[in-house]
Amino acid sequence: MKVLMVCLGNICRSPLAEGILRHKAAAANKSIEVDSCGTGGWHVGEKADPRSRQKSHEHGIDIDSLRARQFHPSDFETFDLIYCMDESNYHDIVALAENQAYKAKVKLILNEVPNLKFQNVPDPYYGGADGFETVYQMLDKACDAIIDRST
Ligand code: 4NP
Repeated sequence: MKVLMVCLGNICRSPLAEGILRHKAAAANKSIEVDSCGTGGWHVGEKADPRSRQKSHEHGIDIDSLRARQFHPSDFETFDLIYCMDESNYHDIVALAENQAYKAKVKLILNEVPNLKFQNVPDPYYGGADGFETVYQMLDKACDAIIDRST
């Protein structure tokens, strides 16, 4: 299975989601390929935000080698599941889907978590360090659910 994590800049939320899911897939011995990207291109080629890298290190995950890239329409063909961090990302990606099969691959990542009252992983870019822990905890739960559902 191939999974793509999508946020706005591909430097805060989706690189964390990529690192967490890859880590959990390896621990569970599941064959899941993971990548991430942004809907926007402002940070292409950059490392993840230092606060996301720090947060992942705190949880024993290394995302230092990741570099930001922008979503490309060919990703609809490459990936089985395209998980968006928030509704804005979701609408941006769905708007690029040329057919129903592509559109059906696009999901809101927090919809994987039963009984969670939030739909959106909040953008932590302009906030403090605690925002990154909130994001981490949301993505940790979502990735557990993704692993449980994968065959
Ligand atoms: P991300 O956070 O979408 O979680 O990577 C952001 C990073 C940068 C910007 C916005 C959101 N920006 O506007 O530069």
